[in-house]
Amino acid sequence: MSSNTYKKLVATQFAPNFASAIAIVECPIPAPATAEILIRNRFAGINAGFDTLVCRGETPYLNLMPPFDLGVEAVGEVVAVGQDVQDFKIGDAVVTIIRGGGYREYQAIAAALATKVREVSPAVLTLMPTGVSALVALEQAGEMKCDEVVLVTAAAGGTGHIAVQLAKRAGNHVIGTCGSPAKAALLKELGCDRVINYRTEDLDQVLQHEYAQGVNLVFDCVGTAVFDICVRHLAIRGRLVSVGFISEYAHQPERVMQPRIYHTLFWKAASVRGFLMPHYSEYLAEGRDRLLQLFYSNQINVAIDPTMFDGIESIPAAVNYLLSGQNCGKVVVQFA
Ligand SMILES: NC(=O)c1ccc[n+]([C@@H]2O[C@H](COP(=O)([O-])OP(=O)(O)OC[C@H]3O[C@@H](n4cnc5c(N)ncnc54)[C@H](OP(=O)(O)O)[C@@H]3O)[C@@H](O)[C@H]2O)c1
Repeated sequence: MSSNTYKKLVATQFAPNFASAIAIVECPIPAPATAEILIRNRFAGINAGFDTLVCRGETPYLNLMPPFDLGVEAVGEVVAVGQDVQDFKIGDAVVTIIRGGGYREYQAIAAALATKVREVSPAVLTLMPTGVSALVALEQAGEMKCDEVVLVTAAAGGTGHIAVQLAKRAGNHVIGTCGSPAKAALLKELGCDRVINYRTEDLDQVLQHEYAQGVNLVFDCVGTAVFDICVRHLAIRGRLVSVGFISEYAHQPERVMQPRIYHTLFWKAASVRGFLMPHYSEYLAEGRDRLLQLFYSNQINVAIDPTMFDGIESIPAAVNYLLSGQNCGKVVVQFA
């Protein structure tokens, strides 16, 4: 690679998995247009679920056709500014949340799309947009209250560990599910009231015996059988927010033959809502500012998975790592 070029990941075709859909493309480093800034990305967040679905052509709200750029959130530094840009200078640390703006070493974007942060650190990638999604899903889709029982699945993951802390801060009793003792320890540290390691305890049984009144709010990242159990254990007027269905991303969806869920929901006046952050974009700026403030005042912790992936070439491995369920906290790739 010459010093005038950079690398990015492009989906060149739809394929059953991420690695088969992508190519690394080398491009000239652009000069920013008059209202743009040029950013050197230093870290990008891995969103393996979205990455896989988008590469399969299974994100109907986007209507994408290859080739298209990949990755979303990145943090980096401003390395050049257009002549009309007032608010940014070379050396500023910035975060961006732009579809196609993550898995690349450089990006030239409208200055208005960047957010200044204190330093170029991967921690903010846990908050934006992952943490903001947790916040908006709980508050808007889930109508989170206080003094309720809130269940978070994949609770030690990038999205889940922020959801756990927000639900606790709101004054709720929080149950978190996870699949390892290390993740259980993290959840305890974050204040989770009841941690369920689903590899050693049966989620259905725990809910039946310890939460006979049901769960008021479920933040479900996992889907399939976990979703079914959560629906069964909703309290009267309980709400389940379907934030994702990570257990399906590495496979084709299973065919389900069972009673329709309104048989369960109706008698409890319970509800299930899908959540997709792009459909709640009006809450992004306020949520981002609130989370940053909580983070900078040490009122919220962020967990970054310790396995650091290096360079554009490592992104398929990072995606597979997250889909394998091994990660604890947010998975991040760094660019030299
Ligand atoms: N709707 C939105 O706008 C939005 C925005 C952000 C994220 N999301 C969704 O939030 C969920 C979490 O995303 P994330 O990027 O933060 O990932 P993550 O939670 O950091 O990682 C995924 C975790 O899922 C858990 N998991 C449980 N069952 C699994 C299975 N069968 N296969 C693989 N993993 C399993 C694993 O932990 P344990 O096994 O320990 O539970 C794994 O660590 C995803 O469903 C994602 O699509 C949605």
